[in-house]
Amino acid sequence: DKLTVCVCGGGNGAHAMAGLAAAHPGTEARVLTLFQDEAPRWANIMKEENFTIQQNKPDKSVVHIKAKPALVTKDASQAVPGANIIIFCVPAFAHAQYFKAIEPYVYPNTAIIGLPGQPGFEFQCFDVLKDKARQCAILSYESLPWACRILEFGKLVEILGAKDSLMGSEIKGKSQLKPDPAKTLQAMLGEHPVLKMAHNYLEPYLMTKSIVHPPLMYGRWKDWDGQPMAEKPLFYQGLDEFGAGSLSTVSDEVLDTARAITKQKPELDLPHVEHLLEWYRQDYRETVKDPTSLLTAMRTNTAYNGLVHPMKDAGNGKWVPDFGYRYLAEDIPFGLVVTKGLALLAGVPTPETDRVLAWCQDKLGKEFIVGSELKGKDMTSSRAPQAYGFKSLDDLMALM
Ligand code: NAI
Repeated sequence: DKLTVCVCGGGNGAHAMAGLAAAHPGTEARVLTLFQDEAPRWANIMKEENFTIQQNKPDKSVVHIKAKPALVTKDASQAVPGANIIIFCVPAFAHAQYFKAIEPYVYPNTAIIGLPGQPGFEFQCFDVLKDKARQCAILSYESLPWACRILEFGKLVEILGAKDSLMGSEIKGKSQLKPDPAKTLQAMLGEHPVLKMAHNYLEPYLMTKSIVHPPLMYGRWKDWDGQPMAEKPLFYQGLDEFGAGSLSTVSDEVLDTARAITKQKPELDLPHVEHLLEWYRQDYRETVKDPTSLLTAMRTNTAYNGLVHPMKDAGNGKWVPDFGYRYLAEDIPFGLVVTKGLALLAGVPTPETDRVLAWCQDKLGKEFIVGSELKGKDMTSSRAPQAYGFKSLDDLMALM
């Protein structure tokens, strides 16, 4: 049977995924991109040119895969009908508009995949698709499968390196898809990353790496005197005890939340949730030189060599921090506010998360948290469970 895949988005990840789907035997790949003039630009370029993925393999060889998506459009009524699998490859802030665009054309037994999904993906999916979501399989992965970048828009994308493994979750609902959509995705991706399945959709929320950036921004900039700087400070290697301590405590609070959830609802087993330090010790064991503590693990991780704080040009060769960068703009509403919301439902106090959130939201000019409650005026623009009216752990389980 023919497989039809609709990739949503027009950036780096969407280019790579659209090419891999098009290259998969027996598959029609379509692209739905709603942003500006991306769809006509991409479609026009493909009339004249090939579409190529340049993939760097671990043995240092470079493979070129040539495969064109059958359709690139901003019209969901063309891209979505008949699609067996819809893959979101856009930053989380753009998810809502794609859910709304696909909603009229989604039929039962479609797989909807967030690649990445990011915390709250399922809440938003059910909020927009309502009962339709129950007839579909909703999958969500913790990140993109690879580091990738567009070299020439609509024409050439580079996959720099695939991750070893990637954790995802699946809500099957009443859907009956054969083969399982995770298997189909694996076939399109190839050998790496190896896709893994979490116990439930909440597990990746509580394992999310989006908790990393906000405490490190808070630690570095909370006492900043506002003076432009001559150098961009190192993000990880310049970490100090205060920032590492804040992050470690936030990670403890997430772990406490997971334990409290499982204690109250043993069906919500969350065995993969662990402290960030354990994650660094395992996943970065090749590159972390000193795994003694979170501080030493981050400061000595050679995978982070040279990564600097997001900075804006302040003129005269000087720099000021960019608080509008995704480290806060995305990782607060689609990260830390979501884990905070889960903590509230589980009855777990999170004083450090609250402190970090209060500082970060101020830098974003938003108000999600008031004291220790998610009662701010911008709360409903986040993906906290409370933004969708969830009041209890039972409400969380009702999606499963
Ligand atoms: P990207 O930065 O290429 O995304 C840009 C695309 O998003 C645009 O082409 C457009 O289609 C859409 N977009 C941008 N602004 C928009 C707006 N205002 N309204 C609607 N749509 C808009 O993103 P990329 O690199 O594909 O990454 C996707 C996600 O994966 C992000 O969350 C990113 O943090 C994450 N990620 C990316 C990696 C990479 O190597 N590129 C690696 C790991 C994770």
